[in-house]
Amino acid sequence: MTHHLGQASSMSDHSITVDLLRIVQTYLKPCRSRSPGVAEVLEKLDFHLTYSQLELDIKPSVPIDKEALLDQSITAITDKALQPIAKQLEQARNKLTWRIDNGLFYAEQANVGESYRSGNMHSELIGPEGCVFRDESFRLGLFILAPTTLYRDHNHTAPELYINLTGPCGWRFSPKDWQDFNAGSLLWNPSGLTHATRTYQQPMLSIYSWTKDIKSQCSVIPMDDWSGIERQLTNEKSQNL
Ligand SMILES: [Fe+2]
Repeated sequence: MTHHLGQASSMSDHSITVDLLRIVQTYLKPCRSRSPGVAEVLEKLDFHLTYSQLELDIKPSVPIDKEALLDQSITAITDKALQPIAKQLEQARNKLTWRIDNGLFYAEQANVGESYRSGNMHSELIGPEGCVFRDESFRLGLFILAPTTLYRDHNHTAPELYINLTGPCGWRFSPKDWQDFNAGSLLWNPSGLTHATRTYQQPMLSIYSWTKDIKSQCSVIPMDDWSGIERQLTNEKSQNL
């Protein structure tokens, strides 16, 4: 079930989303040297914010059972430097189209696991379909993982930048061990690098970007510790209810 958040977007609705992208651009400008990918993302943002036409046929919506997660995720942005993004995201919340990845990025039978299936949501702002700015070769959006979720090991041809707005959350990059990253961390996944993510008591809310090969599918890479991690996360969840 989806909650439709009003009529198709108007120009003024879009200006709220465009302002969000401008705030992200301002945040990223001093970060060029902190991670590969930032310069490319900034170049694309500059281009769209300067030259692109707005797409006006967007119908804002959020899956009904994810409304609380969305609010919880925005509230979980507590880092001081990220407050301008958090405040604008509060404004933009009902102007965006929020979707669950249910085979959008993976083959339908891919073994992504129940915790990911029921715990993910995203809103794409720049990309090939249903975005404020259309781009056939670049994606940028917001990605949410519910608390105590394992996003199993996977890879994709598209190189990927994550700007984490909440934290800490755990990441591992094959063949390395789990490592925690705080809000404000930038993570670059080069083409084909296997990576996994797990969340703790806070949801993960991040800005993601795919800088090329954006139509490539994701592949799940089997690991033998998934069920143990997912059991542990389920226990943590029940302890905190
Ligand atoms: Fe990824």
